[in-house]
Amino acid sequence: MSPVPRTPVCERLGIRLPIFGFSHEPEVVIALTRAGGFGVLGVAREPPEAIPEMVARVRHDIGDARFGVDLMLPAGMPERDDPAAIAARIPKEHRAFVAGLRERFAVPPATRPNFFSSVVRTQALFARQIEAVLGSDVDLIATAVGLPPEMLRRAKDAGRMTLSLVGTAAHARAAIDAGADILVAQGHDAGGHTGPIGTMSLLPQVIEVAEPRGVPVLAAGGIGTGAQIFGAIAMGAQGAWLGTLWLGARENRTSRTLLARLAAAGSADTVVTRAHSGKPCRVVRSAWSDAWAEPGAPEPLPMPYQHALTGELLASIEEHDVAPLVYEAAGQSVHWVREERSVAQIVDELVGGILQAQARLRALGA
Ligand SMILES: Cc1cc2nc3c(=O)[nH]c(=O)nc-3n(C[C@H](O)[C@H](O)[C@H](O)COP(=O)(O)O)c2cc1C
Repeated sequence: MSPVPRTPVCERLGIRLPIFGFSHEPEVVIALTRAGGFGVLGVAREPPEAIPEMVARVRHDIGDARFGVDLMLPAGMPERDDPAAIAARIPKEHRAFVAGLRERFAVPPATRPNFFSSVVRTQALFARQIEAVLGSDVDLIATAVGLPPEMLRRAKDAGRMTLSLVGTAAHARAAIDAGADILVAQGHDAGGHTGPIGTMSLLPQVIEVAEPRGVPVLAAGGIGTGAQIFGAIAMGAQGAWLGTLWLGARENRTSRTLLARLAAAGSADTVVTRAHSGKPCRVVRSAWSDAWAEPGAPEPLPMPYQHALTGELLASIEEHDVAPLVYEAAGQSVHWVREERSVAQIVDELVGGILQAQARLRALGA
């Protein structure tokens, strides 16, 4: 059998497989690195002081292999966490709606905070997260939902590779101008914050912008099979970037309740909602997204006020595992989250699919 295509970006990063994984869980990043792919640890939901230890955890286990860290740095957030000023931006009607949800679903109070209940996304938080990441020995820094050129410049000056997730050709141009070394063309199908253009339409548009400038592009959004990865490479991508599929990985330690919801969900069971963060975000459908879409429900608040409003309730739902309301960001690729498997098993299956797609082409005489 012919080997899996090793694209120039694989050579550059020293990886065997054109499979990139976004995950909040260090164990997933470690396992993916060991399986021959490239792991990127999402730390946007981490307080800055937790970041060094998480990065060190990955480094300890993977030695000299390369890996990345991802930050979400949206523009337009308040300068700093001023509780009175933030509270003043939350209308009474919204507070009453959230209190009503707590009552309707009998959600007990949280006894411990989580990120959403204890932290507000502010410029001051981002500055501290950036310092924590730049102060670590991570090899690549990815940014999404926002592109601070100063951060990219500092990352490059410090010898780090930079990667930017983009959702339109215009974003791609801006990211290259700001100095991104690698782009991820992340389509509407993707889990998490997502733009309006589907992956299949977006990928060639981003490649058209990036290829003449020598910037490699990875495909993201709705990818759950090796055949899709092979197809993306045939279209000019240098690899695929997956997020949702790892939620079904044993190493992710996804709660039983959430795993059951994801395993039961098909591609039509995800929705793009502002009810998660205030910006359009694709999540697996639950009573949470349904409630915010009901007639009479208030419009979700803009980021970061939506989380300032809902953080306590989200922390309570997570802690008490309140089944109807449990959800997570998830892409249309949730179709391929069926049962818990190890990262190595997931990668094996993807590789099998790539080889099968290659064989299919050969059989056609291509
Ligand atoms: C649970 C979850 C959380 C995510 N959070 C982030 C994030 O913080 N930063 C980011 O750049 N992308 C984030 N994403 C998007 C992924 O980086 C990736 O682009 C996306 O998952 C690809 O589509 P897929 O979910 O269909 O594989 C998240 C995705 C998921 C599923």
